[in-house]
Amino acid sequence: MQFMTSAEIRQAFLEYFREQGHTIVGSSSLIPGNDPTLLFTNAGMVQFKDVFLGTDKRDYTRATTSQRCVRAGGKHNDLENVGYTARHHTFFEMLGNFSFGDYFKTEAIRFAWTFLTEVLQLPAERLWVTVHHSDDEAEKIWKEEIGVDPERFSKLDEDNFWSMGDTGPCGPCTEIFFDHGPDVAGGPPGSPDEDGDRYIEIWNIVFMQYNRSADGTTALLPKPSVDTGMGLERVAAVLQNVHSNYEIDLFRELLAAAAAAVGCPNQQQKSLRVIADHIRSSCFLITDGVVPSNEGRGYVLRRIVRRAIRHGNKLGAKGAFFHKLVAAMAEVMGDAYPELRTQQAQIEKILLKEEQQFARTLDNGMSILEQAIASLTTNELPGETVFRLYDTYGFPVDLTADVAREHDLTLDMDGFESAMQAQRQRARAAGQFSVDYNEQLQLEGETCFNGYQALEDRGRVMLLLRDGESVTQLAAGDRGVVVLENTAFYAESGGQVGDAGVLRWDRGCSLLQIVAKKVSIIYIMVK
Ligand code: GLY
Repeated sequence: MQFMTSAEIRQAFLEYFREQGHTIVGSSSLIPGNDPTLLFTNAGMVQFKDVFLGTDKRDYTRATTSQRCVRAGGKHNDLENVGYTARHHTFFEMLGNFSFGDYFKTEAIRFAWTFLTEVLQLPAERLWVTVHHSDDEAEKIWKEEIGVDPERFSKLDEDNFWSMGDTGPCGPCTEIFFDHGPDVAGGPPGSPDEDGDRYIEIWNIVFMQYNRSADGTTALLPKPSVDTGMGLERVAAVLQNVHSNYEIDLFRELLAAAAAAVGCPNQQQKSLRVIADHIRSSCFLITDGVVPSNEGRGYVLRRIVRRAIRHGNKLGAKGAFFHKLVAAMAEVMGDAYPELRTQQAQIEKILLKEEQQFARTLDNGMSILEQAIASLTTNELPGETVFRLYDTYGFPVDLTADVAREHDLTLDMDGFESAMQAQRQRARAAGQFSVDYNEQLQLEGETCFNGYQALEDRGRVMLLLRDGESVTQLAAGDRGVVVLENTAFYAESGGQVGDAGVLRWDRGCSLLQIVAKKVSIIYIMVK
């Protein structure tokens, strides 16, 4: 097999389909502009969803793209597989060719086979084909027109039916796998050990025929269409003669940069792969306008960033390291995605802020988690612990699950949900505060806590906030946040509610309904 760089493969793909009458269309944003039901662009077809549905018209009926995709959160979530397999990513590039009521099964299959075996020169005897069990037509094309080896062919059920999400265009598909050879563990598609890394799906051709509605019913699309997806990183692994996507050109420099940033000489560490994967999705999500937050897309980004930080911490990183990898990203992928260069400083700033924020609770949270694991008598981490880590230490549940998985443990999610429910009730009882529990203020210094020795204390108000703005006074009925120099208020922690009480000052006024959420922050309502 010839050696090709990722950039050469991307170029060869787009050029081949341009020669077959396809219009080259740019990658769309990771935030789907036309679909509030979808968290992220998770496939090349997302920007064409309305064209398949017949509600949008383009001046072409054949298109080809290299689409940036994120599969984290929502349907097609690969976050938890990253680091555990050679082929899963939160971010990847999908090469695709599309027919909007133009060609159908025969041409789509022929294009794919020709591109793989003639342009890329992959040996046919290393490929394996699957079709949907009901699709006799596709089976006939593969066996009679293409001449695929029946020994390297199988018919499957749900694995050969593709849908973008719970609703939207969908249809049966045919997939092409590459066999990395007997020295890699795993069996052919449909076999009990198919989850290994030997047979890797490289191309999926979806015969788009249906639109699925929220009630589960399907209607025929206006015209049978074709949507395909080929993972650039997986094909690059084949053409660069390596078994793992993490060994291809796009990852080599990122892994070296990650190793240098965390001070880990061994580049084979699984955690470095997680960090290298996560810097890609983090950078691209930020360039498309997502920032870490506690909701929706922002929370998925926060989960990704915090998972990467935890893996760096595991390798012994001293201080903030993740933002330092943005420079390597700009270097490796800046030619294909110039926004990585133009927005480099902004991405670094956003990541550094998130690192600093999480650094305040990571070490304490990890020691609580390690103690909880050490004292377990079952193989399930209690929901209370999972909740405490989430609520007080800002550990997304999948981060805790990732640590648990390293110890062959599972999480008690029912217990977690009950703890969450109890927390909501306590918050309601504490006076209808709608508090952002992960809110962090950028403060120099710490509040001194003496609540174990005293129930009263004297000190200065360091900061007063209303609606996130610094103010000098609060009026009756206002809600706000007060940061104290020192305090006797116990902040909510370890499943224990924060203290409530009274603040007095020399001119005799008092503030009531105080709920301590963090040692340095007290939420107050003035009466
Ligand atoms: N839309 C085809 C795929 O994502 O596999």
